[in-house]
Amino acid sequence: MSLALQTRPDFPILERRVNGRPLIYLDSAASSQKPRQVIEAVKLYYERSHANVHRSIHTLGEEATALLETARDSVKEFIGAEHREEIVFTRGTTDAINLVAQAVGRAFAPGDEVIVTEMEHHSNLIPWQILARDRSVKLKAVPIVAEGFLDLDAFDRLFTERTRLVALTHVSNVLGTINPVGKIVARCRRAGSLVLVDGAQAVPHLSVNVARLAPDFYVFSGHKMLGPTGIGVLYGRREVLEGLEPAWGGGEMIKEVWLDRAQWNELPWRFEPGTPPIAPAVGLGAAVEYLGKLGMERVLAHEQELTRLCLDRLGALEEVTLYGPRNPEIKGAVVAFNVKGWHPHDGAALLDQDGIAVRAGHHCAMPLMRKLGIVGTLRASFSVFNTPEEIEVLARSVANLKFQL
Ligand SMILES: Cc1ncc(COP(=O)(O)O)c(C=O)c1O
Repeated sequence: MSLALQTRPDFPILERRVNGRPLIYLDSAASSQKPRQVIEAVKLYYERSHANVHRSIHTLGEEATALLETARDSVKEFIGAEHREEIVFTRGTTDAINLVAQAVGRAFAPGDEVIVTEMEHHSNLIPWQILARDRSVKLKAVPIVAEGFLDLDAFDRLFTERTRLVALTHVSNVLGTINPVGKIVARCRRAGSLVLVDGAQAVPHLSVNVARLAPDFYVFSGHKMLGPTGIGVLYGRREVLEGLEPAWGGGEMIKEVWLDRAQWNELPWRFEPGTPPIAPAVGLGAAVEYLGKLGMERVLAHEQELTRLCLDRLGALEEVTLYGPRNPEIKGAVVAFNVKGWHPHDGAALLDQDGIAVRAGHHCAMPLMRKLGIVGTLRASFSVFNTPEEIEVLARSVANLKFQL
């Protein structure tokens, strides 16, 4: 049975109609839909086990703590981390990157350098801009070339003895480019610079193994991988996290407190001040269990097939411009495109009339849009439940835009 046929009954939202048509949800890169297994896990948690964690001796407090910490173990297994202390729960990718920028940036001196790339989401750009402003750090960007690949020779030239950190996306949320992060991580480790990988568009679609990849930090969001909103993960290599001062303070992240000082808690709680997002973490645990059962190799193969079909069908339309690599085997599950004569927002509004949800706009990647010389794009993105028939409907609706000008 195809992955889509197997999984569709798990997603209650797919029973919805939009504008009188069956919903065709092609916006999972912005936020994915949730299977019943995730919704039920969150519901059950609230109905049966909710209490605050790590503090209450009563039964519910202990159950809630066990559920939160079990979710941590599930995430650890899912991304192949070696130690549970390396899994810090955050509110999302953005929150995780800000945490790292604040925590590591404190030790940066004026003139130190951070390297990003031209294809970063604003989440992996603005926190470094703030750091650059506050600590007089120099921010450099690796250019993109051809269909949207990083210029690795330029990266080598940008790298200097002042480079303290490299922050790059694993998979571009616009171009879909899968970056050679293994190579870049190895280069950074050899040169003694830190490296942060934004895995927001990778973890939902590829089999990621952080122990093998060995970055210092790897971050992602639950809501893009079938989990709830309000939960994300900062994976930090244990040696690196151990040497890092916390970015934010509050309850839970301490062992002992005096009026004028405190002793930090163990990892990973040192980086989780305040009440954590317990229910979202429980939901994320259910999401990784769900994906794990499907098998990420199968998820990748299914989504590559959809990406290939979408590139073929849209690429065959004269009025369509595609962005990013044309080979689905080196591309994430996104297809960005424009249709001649249409502003992306107007195109998306018309596709919505056909029940098709695609994203339109700059995708929080304005520097990339500027580089491409466009204001934005339409973007179709895929998940486990999407079918080839849905791609055919998308292609027909896009072709019809021509007649509506
Ligand atoms: C590549 C990438 N990084 C970061 C983010 C930000 O994720 P969040 O809004 O969940 O923090 C996104 C979201 O679209 C993304 O695609």
